[in-house]
Formats: sequence, C-alpha cells, structure tokens
Amino acid sequence: MPLHRLASITIGVPEPEGVRAFYRDFGLAETEPGRFETADGGEQLRIERAPRRRLLALAVGVDGADDLGRAAAALAELGVEAERSALSLGATEPVSGVRVTLAVEPRLEQKPPPLLALNAPGRSPRLDARSPAVLSAAPARPRKLSHVVIASPDAAASRRFFADGIGFRLSDEVPAIGASFMRCSSDHHNLLVQPAPVPFLHHTAWEMDDVDAVGRAAAAMVGADASRHVWGLGRHGIGSNYFWYLRDPAGNFAEYSSDLDVIVEEEAWRVAASSPAHPLAAWGPPVPREFLAPPDVVALAQGG
Ligand SMILES: [Fe+2]
Repeated sequence: MPLHRLASITIGVPEPEGVRAFYRDFGLAETEPGRFETADGGEQLRIERAPRRRLLALAVGVDGADDLGRAAAALAELGVEAERSALSLGATEPVSGVRVTLAVEPRLEQKPPPLLALNAPGRSPRLDARSPAVLSAAPARPRKLSHVVIASPDAAASRRFFADGIGFRLSDEVPAIGASFMRCSSDHHNLLVQPAPVPFLHHTAWEMDDVDAVGRAAAAMVGADASRHVWGLGRHGIGSNYFWYLRDPAGNFAEYSSDLDVIVEEEAWRVAASSPAHPLAAWGPPVPREFLAPPDVVALAQGG
C-alpha cells in the first residue's frame, strides 16, 4: 500500500510539564523539550500546550509523490481543502480538527528482538535454563508508535476523511456503535475512530517487543505511581494485541502493546464486522468504567 507508516502525533495538553515527565518514564526519549523519540521510529511524539487535551496532529509516511496526488484528488472530491508541496500534503479533518500530514519518507525497517524460547506442553525448546524474560533487568522501551484512537461526534464523516480521502484501509469495524479500525501500514490498526458527543483523544499505543516487555514496562510505571494504572494486562479481541493501559497526568490513556495482527495481503484478510457484544478483550480484568467514559469527557459533554 502506498501509505506505509504512522510517522508521528502531536498531543495538546493544558500543562505539558507533568505530561512530559510521564512520557519520559514511559520509555520515550525526550530529545528536546516536548519532542520524543521511540527506539526504532525516530521522533514520534510532540507534546504542546493547548486549552484542553486533544490530538492536534498526525503524520503518515507515503512512498512517493503519486500518493500525494491521489490523496489530494480524493480529498477534493470530499470537498476538503489540502495544501500540497513537492514532498508533502496537509489537510485538516473537519470534525475533530486533527491536522493530518502525508510526507514522502522511507519505510521503517525494524530489527527483530531475539527469539524467546517458550516451553509448552509437549514442546520444550528451553532446557536446563531460566527464561531470559526473568533475567532481563533492562527497562523495556517502546519500539515505535503503534496506533492512536480518537472520538468524533460524526464518526462516519471522520472515517470518510481518513479512508476515502487520506487512503487508510479498513481492517475491522463495529457497525452497531460506528467504530472503525483503520491502517496506514501493515499493522492491523494505526487509527481507530469511535463515536462520542465531543471529539477527544482516547489513547495512544506503543509497540513493545513482546508480552514480557509490556508487563515489565507497565509494572515499573505502576510501581512508581499506582494511580497511573487503568486496565491490563489483557489481550484484545480485535487486533489480537496484548495491552496494558496507563493514564498520563492530562487524562490521555497510553497503551503498551505487542503482538498486533499484521496484514500484508489485502485479499487474505477478511474485514470482520463485530457485534457490540464482542468483548473488548479476549481476556483481561473487567473493563474499568473510566476506559469507556473518561470522567473529563463526560463533564465536557455535559457542558461542564
Ligand atoms: Fe489500543
């Protein structure tokens, strides 16, 4: 596909200092005030001051100038204005106000982690040795930005912008509640748009080596400040990924994620329309109420 990566996001928050400290603890490297790098993906997060917490911008990597032309024509058909330069294209999603940039850039190559030998009934590849998972003391760092989840008061219009205009592909959906899982890479989802009375950023997700890295990183975060814990450890039904969600001081959820489904052959993947009865998780602790309805968003929707 011509879109090949979720390159970066910009989050606005009222008080950036505490939020920046959170993402440093989370394992991102702050190279300049408010600018953060992952281990593999380069600069992928910016934190800026804004009147209330929200996703300000996201950037997508594309293969070539042809892809910019295709997106410009598709956006024009939707009646959305776009600014074009030789190597980039910018447009604002009308409902959520998120600024989206497409930029021609190289594809991301990632070096795989060492293969972990996992013993199982009838299969013991690790003999006479302790698992490296219990010996590792190194802090687990996010390898790259995985996905971002936004809520939109007109989720159908937001989906049209991202899918029909920008060129995201649909991976799965929950039609009864109007939620769409979309990708701009081979990852099962880089963007989820879900309906809500007011637009807001629900969470960002960060790719870890494996489930041990998810557990080790999240346990360190919660060990330092138990109030950061939101939901985990679990495994999602849609996308199959392990998850553990934390809360940053502004109220955005931040997810450690691993083992997300990967889609490389469009024809081999069947988009599944899940019913709302489909559990949010294949397994995990009960879903906390604040995950479904963040308290500040409920107050905002009620005019508070
Ligand atoms: Fe997620």
